[in-house]
Amino acid sequence: MEQMPGRVLVVVPTYNERENLPLIAARVRAALPEAHLLVADDSSPDGTGQIADELAAADDHIHVLHRPGKQGLGAAYIDAFRWAMHEGYEVLVEMDADGSHQPEELPKLLEALGEGADLAIGSRWVPGGKVVNWPASREFLSRGANVYVRLMLGLPVRDATAGFRAYRAATLEKIGLSDVESQGYCFQVDLTLRTARNGLRIAEVPITFVERTIGHSKMSRKIITEALWRVTVWGVTGLPARLRRQRH
Ligand code: GDD
Ligand code: MN
Repeated sequence: MEQMPGRVLVVVPTYNERENLPLIAARVRAALPEAHLLVADDSSPDGTGQIADELAAADDHIHVLHRPGKQGLGAAYIDAFRWAMHEGYEVLVEMDADGSHQPEELPKLLEALGEGADLAIGSRWVPGGKVVNWPASREFLSRGANVYVRLMLGLPVRDATAGFRAYRAATLEKIGLSDVESQGYCFQVDLTLRTARNGLRIAEVPITFVERTIGHSKMSRKIITEALWRVTVWGVTGLPARLRRQRH
């Protein structure tokens, strides 16, 4: 691999992932031995936080952020990013705990940053990207969401909801996190939009997304509803600026 683009922190948000966490932690440590890992746990009732503490006690590259309760993926990432920037990490990676994002593909994401991207997205919906074992309903939802996002926001991205991505810390500093309100998975679209609107470079790297075999998805009607109304509001409020750009 090319030179690592700075000190790397892989952030893994968890809610009831007690069986998955040790497996994913070991794979991350093997794939990127220099990188650090931060588990952001929302006081999982199944004791994931305790398992994270045990992993951290045994490995000085593993850290844990305990949050008071389930407040959503977006809120967990914001907290984790603040911690990471305070600690001086230069690259922040987002990754699910359930094995859907394969740690072995992390070097590819970091290479894209090394080649000049400000945000590298591990993408299911570019040529070479794949999903394995996803129910047709989930594929339909993800593809539909991405069509709606492109239509409403005009983002030059095929997989704006992807949760496997690498940011330069400088990107997050530039876009600003203090007024991010997205709580659920629309957090991913929110930050993609902010990155694009700041004129920063986004690269999409094809990945293979493998549906989890242990535990359950936390996707809910509430998460879908939040995404739908927020994307609609961003689209409508951003329309005048988009039309101005198109005229010039
Ligand atoms: N701390 C915390 N708090 N973690 C959470 C929460 C929360 O409220 N909700 C979910 N997570 C964690 C899960 O434990 C898991 O590690 C990761 O976030 C992803 O959650 P899943 O429930 O497995 O998501 P999914 O497989 O349905 O959705 C995937 O696809 C979405 C749409 O493309 C993910 O990759 C999402 O990031 C993506 O937006
Ligand atoms: Mn999942």
